Amino acid sequence: MSNDKRIHHLGLQRKVCSAEEAAQWINPGDIIGTSGFTGSGYPKIVPGALAARIKQAHEQGKEFKIKLLTGASTGPELDGVLAEVNGVSYRTPFNTDPKMRKRINDGDTNYLDMHLSYVAPLYRSGALGDMDVAIIELSSIRADGTLVASTAVGNNQLWLNSAKKVILEVNHWQRAELEGMHDIWEVSPTFPQKIVPIVNPHDRIGNPYMTVDLDKVVAIVETNAPDRNAPFSPSDGNARAIAGHLMEFFNYEIKKGKMPQQLLPLQSGIGNVANAVMEALSQGHFENLSAYTEVIQDGMLSMLETGKMRIASATSFSLSPEKAQYFNDNIQKFRQKIILRPQEISNHPEVIRRIGCIAMNGAIEADIFGNVNSTHIMGSRMMNGIGGSGDFTRNAYVSIFMTPSLAKDGNISSIVPMVPRVDHISQDVQVIVTEQGLADLRGLSPRCRAKVIIENCAHPTYKPLLTEYYKLGLKNTPMQTPHFLREALSWHEKFVSTGTMLPK
Ligand code: COA
Repeated sequence: MSNDKRIHHLGLQRKVCSAEEAAQWINPGDIIGTSGFTGSGYPKIVPGALAARIKQAHEQGKEFKIKLLTGASTGPELDGVLAEVNGVSYRTPFNTDPKMRKRINDGDTNYLDMHLSYVAPLYRSGALGDMDVAIIELSSIRADGTLVASTAVGNNQLWLNSAKKVILEVNHWQRAELEGMHDIWEVSPTFPQKIVPIVNPHDRIGNPYMTVDLDKVVAIVETNAPDRNAPFSPSDGNARAIAGHLMEFFNYEIKKGKMPQQLLPLQSGIGNVANAVMEALSQGHFENLSAYTEVIQDGMLSMLETGKMRIASATSFSLSPEKAQYFNDNIQKFRQKIILRPQEISNHPEVIRRIGCIAMNGAIEADIFGNVNSTHIMGSRMMNGIGGSGDFTRNAYVSIFMTPSLAKDGNISSIVPMVPRVDHISQDVQVIVTEQGLADLRGLSPRCRAKVIIENCAHPTYKPLLTEYYKLGLKNTPMQTPHFLREALSWHEKFVSTGTMLPK
């Protein structure tokens, strides 16, 4: 690390210490704000040292838990290690770590799932308390004491402004050439707020660095540790079929003159299906694409490299380990084509509406009227959270949800009579796509939606059962939205008690 100097400010060089020393600044009950957004840019070693302190305290019979606020999900070295020692009493706004997920679902950690663009406004309102310590990963510290973020921007600047104490992790695995790729712009804390002056995804409106009151920096730790994103599953037949239906839809919209040849700025959610769609686009005939999105996934990086995509604006990377290494080794190819912004800006409703995004997000399930569940398995078990899907869905030019029509070896239909959890109301959901087909719901009343969703999206095994349910609804409550309430959630009940939604 000594040949690769990253801390250029003389005063801050004196604050370098071990992770164990840095973790001593954290007290039981503290509200901690960290960097990190989908396995990228999160602190890698101070949380481990904190977890060791927590474990020791618990062994001595002492209470020690912290409240954890981030950008979004992080990696095993943060959520994982703290969940392992049951060290988090409160977590927001998004999590994908399996150990933390278990703590949340077991009731050990109170979890607030929320729209990612709301975290900063909600924090500023005082509803999330006052931050004690910020732990922020950086790629470097400049000579004037300004800070260069690493692979995620998230809520970093807000945490740096708000925390009483700041711990910095300077990660040598992150490339120094990340400097210049960030665009830090702050929303005004009072109303009326300034207009966010982004008209095109390539617009830069802020500074390439973050700022901090240097007196608040209590410790700096140097690390050399990779980001940790899970590899994507290879595209399967379902993902390819979903991508195919979407390509057809885009072609049709272009033919009608409703979308330009280069489409509109793309937003692509997290997950295997979303990544497969990006891969399909990279092999398709569309050119000169752009993205105004939250995370840059493997497929999007490929399009930036081949020139199919000219610019991608996001708040972080969400790359497989191979692509993350590839990006690091080839960063010069991408520096001018990627802008990383605070999540309040990457997901800002005003900008998304102005530039007319195409929002494409994964769903767990949808009901026959087009309400979508993105977060809860069988209505109760938290999966990940809503993430940025709501930020984009409500405000996009067209809002698309994608899911295979079956889950768990066909024992679950992803098209159901009624979703036991609504994350995206039918008024926001415009298109649903499964491998069976695409339902364009724009302009359709609930009754027409039900017909199109069952006909185009449901798996043949479940289609007759859904049709039968809808007929029962029409018979029992022939009103605006026909339901047969006694059976509306019976499919889920059946799965929970028998392991299948199918009749025995
Ligand atoms: N009922 C029960 N379980 C279901 C299901 C259903 N209808 N549909 C999927 N699942 C299960 C799968 O079996 C799988 O379980 P496993 O982890 O035990 O294997 C899991 O849910 C994930 O399914 P998968 O098909 O691999 O989906 P994905 O990787 O494309 O992710 C979401 C789908 C909905 C979980 C994901 O998109 C998500 O978290 N969305 C919310 C956040 C978001 O949209 N952010 C984007 C803004 S940028």
